[in-house]
Amino acid sequence: MRKIALATVAVAATAALALGGCSSRTDEGTSGGTEEGFAADSSIGVALPDKTSENWVLAGDLFTEGLEEAGFKADVQYAPANNTVPEQQNQISSMVTNGAKVIIIGAKDSAQLSAQVEQAKQSGAVVIAYDRLITNTEAVDYYLAFDNFKVGQLQGQALLDGLAEKYPDADTYNIELFAGSPDDNNAKVFFDGAMEVLQPKIDDGTLNVVSGQTGFEQVVTQGWLAQNAQSRMDTVLAGNYTGTELHGVLSPNDTLARAIIESTRAAGKPLPVVTGQDSEVESVKSIVAGEQYMTIYKDTRALVQAAIDMVKTLQAGDEPEVNDTETYDNGVKVVPSFLLDPVVVTKENAADAYADNDTLSALTK
Ligand code: BGC
Repeated sequence: MRKIALATVAVAATAALALGGCSSRTDEGTSGGTEEGFAADSSIGVALPDKTSENWVLAGDLFTEGLEEAGFKADVQYAPANNTVPEQQNQISSMVTNGAKVIIIGAKDSAQLSAQVEQAKQSGAVVIAYDRLITNTEAVDYYLAFDNFKVGQLQGQALLDGLAEKYPDADTYNIELFAGSPDDNNAKVFFDGAMEVLQPKIDDGTLNVVSGQTGFEQVVTQGWLAQNAQSRMDTVLAGNYTGTELHGVLSPNDTLARAIIESTRAAGKPLPVVTGQDSEVESVKSIVAGEQYMTIYKDTRALVQAAIDMVKTLQAGDEPEVNDTETYDNGVKVVPSFLLDPVVVTKENAADAYADNDTLSALTK
């Protein structure tokens, strides 16, 4: 029911955009829909960033499998660990040259792909930003992701809940903040979502960021790399927490959460309440064991399926469903988006949250 209602809103919104939103353009409008569709065995390019999180690894496998099963030729590429940005740019250019009809991109650097996606558009391909928005270009047709701002809000709220649970007698808490990699557009969105919840509590004195590091640029983690979070945590602990207890840490994902926990453990400190995201096996184990406080479940299977459904719709010459035409402004335009709902997971609801997949059985391996 909800899906149908959303689809109706989306169609109306897309029509309004096409009619009124784009008077200077004379071509088919802002959408990527190609009225005539394309051949059912066309090549579909999928450019993914590094394998720093389990979700990216899984996405690659699912794309290859799902696209082939749907009859397309799957051209799935990861940006290699070295020289990542230029390599991803080259991969996308090759997909265009090889005639891909749709190019699905998980950007390594959200702001460095305009030339390649513009080249893709010129060749007639549809460009879908997958999980991470591509910024500063007209040439991105759709954005497909879990609602990243909501992920941040959920993390912020969970941090407050976890603190209240763990320290029922306290009314103020010492916390530290971490964000993801600044070249990933999501990092700022997650952080802004979390700060919408946390900032009022910092302002009223409930939360005390002892290091004083509260600005996005001060708390980023280059490359989403565990070692970078761990060494910043080491420094923050050594500089600010020799005689002071740390109660909580906002961590944007599981990889970094585990690094932060590792750092506090190595410093001989009690474990603070630490947030996460991605439902990585090691973190779910840690949650069940009462260490990491929470994670976010973003079912990669659902996101990949949504992308493949979008490809099928485009292949048939139809307009894909979107459910948000307001939120994801890439600096040049608001990109029509299809957003899925993230789910909070703590020790309390882990069994329910993962009931439909193999996360729990993986815990015992
Ligand atoms: C994804 C997160 C992931 C991070 C690091 C982000 O863009 O949305 O799920 O933890 O990249 O790979």
